[in-house]
Amino acid sequence: MTSDAALTEAETFYLNDYTPFGFEVDSVELTFRLAPSATRVLSKIRFTPKPGATDLRFFLHGEKLKLISAKIDGTDATPDLTAEGLTCEVPETSFLWEAEVEIDPAGNTALEGLYMSGGMYCTQCEAEGFRKITYYPDRPDVMSIFTVRIEGDEEVLLSNGNPVSQSQGLAEWHDPWPKPAYLFALVAGDLVNHPDTFTTQSGKEVELNIWVRPGDEDKCAFGMEALKKSMTWDEEAYGREYDLDIFNIVAVDDFNMGAMENKGLNIFNSSCVLASPETSTDANFERIEAIIAHEYFHNWTGNRITCRDWFQLCLKEGLTVFRDAQFTSDMRSASVKRISDVIDLRARQFPEDQGPLSHPVRPEEFQEINNFYTATIYEKGAEIIGMLKRLVGDAAYRKAVDLYFDRHDGQACTIEDWLQVFEDSTGRDLAQFKRWYSQAGTPRLKVAESYEDGSYTLTFEQSTAATPGQPQKDPRVIPIALGLLNGNGDEVQPTTVLEMTEAKQSFTFDGLASKPVPSILREFSAPVILERATSSAERTFLLAHDSDLFNRWEAGNTLAREARIDMVLEGAAPDAAYLEALQKLVRDDSLDPAFRALVLQPPSQSDIAQTLYERGVTPDPQKIYDAAETLAQTLAQQLADSLPRLYAETTVEGAYSPDAASAGKRALNARVLTLLTRLDGGEQAARQYASADNMTQQYAALSWLLQAENGAAQSHAFFEQWRGDRLVMDKWFALQVALATPEKAAAVAKDLTRHELFTLKNPNRFRAVMGALAGNHAGFHHASGAGYQLLADNLIVLDSLNPQTTARMCTAFQTWKRYDADRQALIKMQLQRIKSTTGLSRDTNEMVSRILDA
Ligand code: BES
Ligand code: ZN
Repeated sequence: MTSDAALTEAETFYLNDYTPFGFEVDSVELTFRLAPSATRVLSKIRFTPKPGATDLRFFLHGEKLKLISAKIDGTDATPDLTAEGLTCEVPETSFLWEAEVEIDPAGNTALEGLYMSGGMYCTQCEAEGFRKITYYPDRPDVMSIFTVRIEGDEEVLLSNGNPVSQSQGLAEWHDPWPKPAYLFALVAGDLVNHPDTFTTQSGKEVELNIWVRPGDEDKCAFGMEALKKSMTWDEEAYGREYDLDIFNIVAVDDFNMGAMENKGLNIFNSSCVLASPETSTDANFERIEAIIAHEYFHNWTGNRITCRDWFQLCLKEGLTVFRDAQFTSDMRSASVKRISDVIDLRARQFPEDQGPLSHPVRPEEFQEINNFYTATIYEKGAEIIGMLKRLVGDAAYRKAVDLYFDRHDGQACTIEDWLQVFEDSTGRDLAQFKRWYSQAGTPRLKVAESYEDGSYTLTFEQSTAATPGQPQKDPRVIPIALGLLNGNGDEVQPTTVLEMTEAKQSFTFDGLASKPVPSILREFSAPVILERATSSAERTFLLAHDSDLFNRWEAGNTLAREARIDMVLEGAAPDAAYLEALQKLVRDDSLDPAFRALVLQPPSQSDIAQTLYERGVTPDPQKIYDAAETLAQTLAQQLADSLPRLYAETTVEGAYSPDAASAGKRALNARVLTLLTRLDGGEQAARQYASADNMTQQYAALSWLLQAENGAAQSHAFFEQWRGDRLVMDKWFALQVALATPEKAAAVAKDLTRHELFTLKNPNRFRAVMGALAGNHAGFHHASGAGYQLLADNLIVLDSLNPQTTARMCTAFQTWKRYDADRQALIKMQLQRIKSTTGLSRDTNEMVSRILDA
C-alpha cells in the first residue's frame, strides 16, 4: 500500500453487508512457472452466472499483481484495474476467464501469498493471501475444484489434492474436493521426506509425508506419530475419515503463524513440527502433537465444511481448538490439559475481553481480518463449544455434530447453521445461548449462599461490563458445574450442571445434614470470573479434598493469588496456611506429578496485575515482581528440607521419552529445581546443565541459572553448542530477555537486536526477542519506559516488511489502561508514534487505533 492510500480512511467490512458472489466457479486450472523474482501464474477459470443473483458485477480480487494478459473465451479482455482487484464486462452465460500475471516471491517479506523461505517456495493464503497470487474471487464462500501445474527446477513440487503426474521440472496435482482459495497451497524446494502410510477405517491406504530441508529428516518421527494418532482419533471420536490418497506436511522456517490446514498440504512453521529430544522441550513436543492434530482436524471442520465469510471464523477455529483439546485430553491427562487451557485463557483472552480490543466471538465488523485471529475467536470460541456440549450432553453433542457433517458437507456455513443442527437434533431453543457469540466481554458471576434447616441455597448474579460498541449486555446461559462437600471432605452432591439463564438466580439443595462446602464451576464449566468472598480455610479445604482436580488446582491458585495480592497491597507476609497446604500437596505421591507441577506454578505477574485491575486497583509492576520473588524465596525456605529428596525422586532416569508421564515428572522436577536454585545459588542447576542429555533438562537448568543471575558461562556454552540450530537459537534469544531483571530487560533485548543472528525477517526470531520482552511483565512495564520504546522502535521497522506479525505484536500494549498515569502516558506516546508512521500498514493502523481508542 502506498503512503497516500494509508492516509485515507481504511474500509470497514460488516457482517450485515453479506451478499453471495454472482457467479459459480466451475473449475480452476493454474499453471505456475516458478522464478524467484518473476513467477508467472496462468489461470483458466470457468465462471457461470448464477440464475437470480442480485450482484452480477464481475469483481476479482488481486493485489500487487502485474497483469500480463486477460482473455474471456479466447478474446482479449479489457478489465478495469484498481489496487484491490479488477472488474470486467462479461458474458451472460458460462465463460472461460484466462489470465497471466507476474509476481515476486523473493521480494515478498510479508509472508502472505507466494513467498520464499530458505530457498524454497511456499504459500500462505488464509485469510486473503490468494489475491496476491492471481485474480480470483478470494472469499471463502466461493468453492471450486482446482487443478495445478507447477513448472520449476526444484526436486519437490507440491500442491493440494492427489498427484496426477510428476516428472523432471513438472508436476500436476488435482484436488477433487471443492475448496475456497484460502486453502490453496504450493510448495517447491529441494526437500527430503519422512514417509509413512495410514490405512483408514474403510481400508483406504493413504500416503503420508513430512517434507523438510535436508538435515532435518531426523526431527520428523514424532510429528508423524502425532499425525497417525490424530487420524485414528478423528475416526473414533467423530467418525471422520481422511479423504485423499496423500497427506503432506511441509516445514518452513519463515511463517507468520504456527501452521496452516491447506487441503492435503499442511504447511507448518518449523517450530511447530520439527522435534528431537536434544533440541525440543517437553512443552515443544506437546505443542507439536496438538498443532498437528489441530490442522489435521480442520480437514473436516474448516475444509469439507468451511466458513461463509470471515465473520464466521470461530465456526472452524473455535470448533477445531475444542477438538484438538479433546484429543490432547485423551492422549494425556484431561485435568492437566484443562488447567493449562484455563491458565492460557486467563492470560490471553480475559485481558483481551476486558480491554480496548474486546470483540464478540463472532465479530460484526473489521478492517483487517488478520487482526481477528484472536484468543477470543479461538479460545473463547472453543469454550462456547464446551458449554454447548455440557448443556446438551455427550450423546446429543455427537448426534448434532453428525447432523452438521451430513447436512453441510461441501458448504460454506454460518454460526446459525451450526446452532441449527443442535436445535434440530435436541429440540432446544438456543436463542439465548447465541448471545455468547454476539456479546463481547467476560461475565462476572457473584455468588451468595445461605443454609437453614438442611436446605442450602446458592444465589448467582451475572453481569458484564460494557465493551467497545456494546454498552448494554443481556444475561447469558451459564452452565455451572457444581458439587457439594461435607465437613469431612466427602461429596454429598456429585457434580451437577446448574443452568443459569437469569441475571440473578437461586438454586436450592435440600436434605443436607450440615452446611456444605460448595465446589463451583468445576472443570471451569464457563468462561466467567467467579466472585466469591471466601476464607483461606475453605480454599485450603478444597485444595485438599475436592474430587474435581480442576477445582483443587483452582483453590490453590486462588490462595496463591490472594497471598500475592495481600503482599502487594498490605506488605503482608506470605499466607502460612497456603504454604502449609502446598507443602503437603507437593509431597503427595498419589497425585500426578504434572498436576503437582501446576499447583506449584505461581500465578503470573500479569495475572496479578489483571486481577488488581479488575478490582479497581492500579497495579505496580515492580511491587508485583518483588512479591513474586519474596513468595518464591519463602516457599523455597519452607520446603528446604524436602527439596533435595523431591528433586531426586522426580529426576527421570534412562533415555529421554516425551510421553506425558515422563514429561509430567520432569515438569515437577523443574519446579523443584527453581526453588532449589533459590537456596543453593545454582549448584544443582549447574550440575543438571552439565549432565543434561535432552533439551528439557538443559533448558530448565539454564533458565534457573539465568534467573539466579549465575548462568553466564552456561549461556555462552549453550550459544556455542547450538548456534547452528535456528529453533534452539530462538530459545536462547528468548530466555535471556524473559529472565532478565526488571531494570535490565529492555537493555538485554536491545543488545540482542544487534546480535549477528538477530533478524526482523524471521517471525520466530522477532517474536523470540520482542515477545519475551512483552512477556517480562516488570521489565516491559519498567517505569523508565525503555521497554515500550524498544518495542515501538522495532514494530515501526517491521511494519514495512511484515504487517501481520507487527500487528499481532501490538497486543502487548492492549492492557495499557491497567497502569498508572505515568505509564499510560509513556505507552500512549509510543502508540501515537507508531500510528503516525508514514505508510503504516492497514493491519497495524487498525490495531493501534483500536488500542488508543480505549
Ligand atoms: N488456520 C490457522 C492458521 C492461520 C491463522 C492462517 C491466521 C492465517 C491466518 C490454523 O489452523 C491455526 O489456527 N493455527 C494456530 C495453531 C492452532 C493449534 C490453534 C496457529 O497458527 O497459531
Ligand atoms: Zn485452526
